[in-house]
This record gives sequence, structure tokens and C-alpha cells, in this order.
Amino acid sequence: MPNTEVFFKWAPEYSVNIQTIDDQHQELVNILNRLFVAVCKREGDKVIAGILDALMSYTQTHFELEERLMQQAKYKDFDAHKAEHEKLLAQLDLLCKKHLVDGKPIYFEMLSFLKTWLKEHIQGVDTKYSAALQQSGFSVDSWEREASSEFARMSDSKKWWEVWKAA
Ligand SMILES: [Fe+2]
Repeated sequence: MPNTEVFFKWAPEYSVNIQTIDDQHQELVNILNRLFVAVCKREGDKVIAGILDALMSYTQTHFELEERLMQQAKYKDFDAHKAEHEKLLAQLDLLCKKHLVDGKPIYFEMLSFLKTWLKEHIQGVDTKYSAALQQSGFSVDSWEREASSEFARMSDSKKWWEVWKAA
């Protein structure tokens, strides 16, 4: 069992050149890696359900912040980008429900789907909005200062990490 292997290794080419967003993407990768370990070690449905809750909650919060950034910068492809987020949340919800309702062994299917989605999303549309914002002269630096406290507030209300760390 490849327990000690890192399932999803972060690489510099995944950077979108906005530190706050990179940090959150790395946290998503950490949660996926935690899920991988739990699945490999067969840590049980309760633990896995906790990690899935944390993944869902963190993803929602991250998307909200990213959407806020794009709206503040009046990003022209905002609607299409938001639609991608909504589609993923719906798919994630379905995958979680499949796991919770039917108890089907879909963990590896879920893991590879999420890994591929995250890689392609970051290197595709996230990189595109980041480049557009920086070219438009939008002040990413001052946004980041404000965003760090906003993200802490949003995370506080969701307590996603408590579920994850308890797992
Ligand atoms: Fe995004």
C-alpha cells in the first residue's frame, strides 16, 4: 500500500502568482493528501466523512474568496469562472452523497477526479484570471492584505479545520 507516497505533490508551476490564493490551493492539496492516506489506511467511514466535510467546507470558502477577488477586479470572465466552481461543488456534493448514502467504494475515483480537476483548474482558468488582474493594474497587494483577515473570518464561521484536525 503506497501509504508514505505523496498523492498530490505541489509544484512551482501550480502557482498563480498571488500568495493568498497559492496558500489556499496548497491547503486543498493537503486535504486531498490527508484523504488519500485515510483511504489507503482504511481509517473508516467516520474519519473519511470528516475529511470530506472539511474538503467541502474549505473548497466553498476558497471559491467565495476567489469570486470576491474577481468581482472586485471586475474580471470579464467572472460568470464562466463562477459556473466552473458551482459545477465542481455540485459534483463534490454528489460524490460525498454517494459515499455517505450508498457506502460505495468510490474513494479512489473521487481522489483522482479531484486531483485532475484541481490541477487543470489552477493551471487553466485560475492562471488566466490572475494574469488578467495583474495586467489590468488591479492592486493585488492591497487586496491580499484585506483578504487574509476576510478569509480568517469566513473560515471562523465554518470551523472546517476542527473537523479535519479531529480526523
Ligand atoms: Fe477558481
